[in-house]
Amino acid sequence: MTTTATATIAPPRAVRTVADLRDAVADLRAAGRPVALVPTMGALHEGHLSLLRLAAAGDHSVVMSLFVNPAQFAPTEDLAAYPRDEARDVALAAAAGAELVFAPDVTEVYPEGFATTVTVDGPAGTLEGAARPHHFAGVATVVAKLLIAARPDRAVFGQKDAQQVAVIRRMVRDLHLDDVEIVIGPIVREADGLAMSSRNAYLGSEDRMAAVVLRRSLDHAVAAVVAGERDPRAVERVAMDVLTAEPRCKPEYASVVDPDTFTPAAGLDRPALLCVAGRVGPTRLIDNQYLSPNRS
Ligand code: PAJ
Repeated sequence: MTTTATATIAPPRAVRTVADLRDAVADLRAAGRPVALVPTMGALHEGHLSLLRLAAAGDHSVVMSLFVNPAQFAPTEDLAAYPRDEARDVALAAAAGAELVFAPDVTEVYPEGFATTVTVDGPAGTLEGAARPHHFAGVATVVAKLLIAARPDRAVFGQKDAQQVAVIRRMVRDLHLDDVEIVIGPIVREADGLAMSSRNAYLGSEDRMAAVVLRRSLDHAVAAVVAGERDPRAVERVAMDVLTAEPRCKPEYASVVDPDTFTPAAGLDRPALLCVAGRVGPTRLIDNQYLSPNRS
């Protein structure tokens, strides 16, 4: 039988409980293909969709989780305002190849009496961890729960949140979850270079234009390295000067770090990552860039 040109993509199965997730993943496995998990908080954009497509490589069945995780937001942050549109996200995920969406309620993930937190030291201690003290414990806890609940063969995360990647890699090793292959997708950007983020939706038009300063600060830093600068602190100053020159940006940090430990890089002779953060209008934005020649 042939499908007609007007046929629509079947919505993926959406499940809300861990028990149903386990049954559905077992069904996918019974079909003989490995399973890849892509954790998200929804408000999907091309960055998320690129991860779904990457997850499918090698004929994996793709499961996307869609859960705005309260544990990773501070009381002063945007949990209530975080954009939510499940029907749109499920349709976009289906079009990008997801076969199953796990969209639990908060009480399913954190039932009454919930008392366990996964706290990662090491790479969670600096930069974003210093600016947002409980953030990475919230991330590590929910990602550990998702990996334990779904037991995927592969889990896919974005380089956009480079420190989150380091924290998750550390946690996966420390908790013996390292039979899960961790795959990292590159940062997807808008045409002007702004890294895509669900939070870009909070930017008004002037702030949106100013927000490209994060990308510009990375570009100037890379240019300094290409021109021969080898002192990580001098590279940080180049990036910080660019951030400071934009009146709508309140710079928070420009730091060259070891990409695994997130401690200050001593030199540029081994992999080093430049991470920048700043507030533009109402929105805190982050971006990053490898400075070593063979990583992008
Ligand atoms: P969220 O911000 O929804 O991001 C989901 C995944 O998409 C993360 O791995 C993130 O790094 C990736 N991502 C975001 N913007 C991207 C971009 N421009 N290009 C490529 N990938 C991008 O990160 C989270 O959710 C949460 O912390 C989560 C891991 C789901 C745990 O709650």
